Amino acid sequence: MASSGILVFIFTVLCICAVKSGFVKLECKTENVGHYGQQSLLECVVKTSSDVTDPNIRMVAWKKLTSPEDEGDLVLGFKRGKLDQPKRGYRFAEPSWNGKNMNVSLLITNTAVADEGDYKCIVITDSGDDNMVTTLKVQAKYSISTVHSIPKKIVPNTDSTLVCESHGGYPQGTIRWLDEEEHEWTKSSEMEAKQSDDGLFQLTSRLSLLGGSTFSKYICAVLNASGGKEDEKTFEMPAPPSSQGGIFGPGSSETSKVVAPLVVIGSLIIGLLLLLLYKRRSQKARRNSTAPLMDRRDAAPTDVEEGYNSHEDEPINKDQS
Ligand SMILES: *[C@@H]1O[C@H](CO)[C@@H](O)[C@H](O)[C@H]1NC(C)=O
Ligand SMILES: *[C@@H]1O[C@H](CO)[C@@H](O)[C@H](O)[C@H]1NC(C)=O
Repeated sequence: MASSGILVFIFTVLCICAVKSGFVKLECKTENVGHYGQQSLLECVVKTSSDVTDPNIRMVAWKKLTSPEDEGDLVLGFKRGKLDQPKRGYRFAEPSWNGKNMNVSLLITNTAVADEGDYKCIVITDSGDDNMVTTLKVQAKYSISTVHSIPKKIVPNTDSTLVCESHGGYPQGTIRWLDEEEHEWTKSSEMEAKQSDDGLFQLTSRLSLLGGSTFSKYICAVLNASGGKEDEKTFEMPAPPSSQGGIFGPGSSETSKVVAPLVVIGSLIIGLLLLLLYKRRSQKARRNSTAPLMDRRDAAPTDVEEGYNSHEDEPINKDQS
């Protein structure tokens, strides 16, 4: 009596195992990636062994788990030939799915951060049943909204702060600061992360700048959770007042373009005039040095006498040559 009972028990266990592992198997992608605001696919397909002909799915339940052990919330169900309590935004991925279609993938039409997590798919067919857990990871891309300074107008040689704001990303990312030579300044900054009601992160980073030690520009870059750069913006520092800048102010290079040739031409003219004057003077000096030989009274002539004498000198010069 007892031995036949044990035999029956063993037989049933073997049967159940055969049905579970031999005839029907649910195959799911272990991890699925969804993008915020877009469609997400959680892929699961029912596989049957070759001796099963014309399999029929009697029941499907897609449940969102809040912890690995819990029952979960039903998001999409199929029972007795029709959909059972489908939640808004969840449907079978196959457009006109029915019990003959072995692709039981779940489609989330408008992915939210709250959709991230583990999902359990339970399938019962007329040839056996199976279930699997699959995970959805949600990603959202960061973008930088502003980079501004405090104070708004940076005063040379005084401390200031650059503020970089980034929003709309998930999971939590980081903000980096670089100067124009790609040196890292992130250590001088402080970042704050806030999560809004939709689950997306808003990152704000403040970079402290000491007066007098500033570069001409700073780059704020936002990185996603795996370190990939998603956006960057450059902040141009106001130009420091230059030493010659005071004379002409802005556009001084324009002014110098006009002034430089004038200076060159002017000095050339002055140089020529000086040369002419020198030549004339040296000529007169020569005449004066010859004059005393002829007339001693002209040794120290006045300006007026000079002009007069030069006229008188002409015949003498002719005689000498
Ligand atoms: C299941 O159906 C979805 C939607 O039609 C499709 O994208 C996916 O590739 C299918 N999976 C398999 C394994 O056929
Ligand atoms: C981060 O960005 C890289 C490159 O754009 C991308 O391949 C990766 O999937 C992103 N990771 C996350 C968690 O967003």
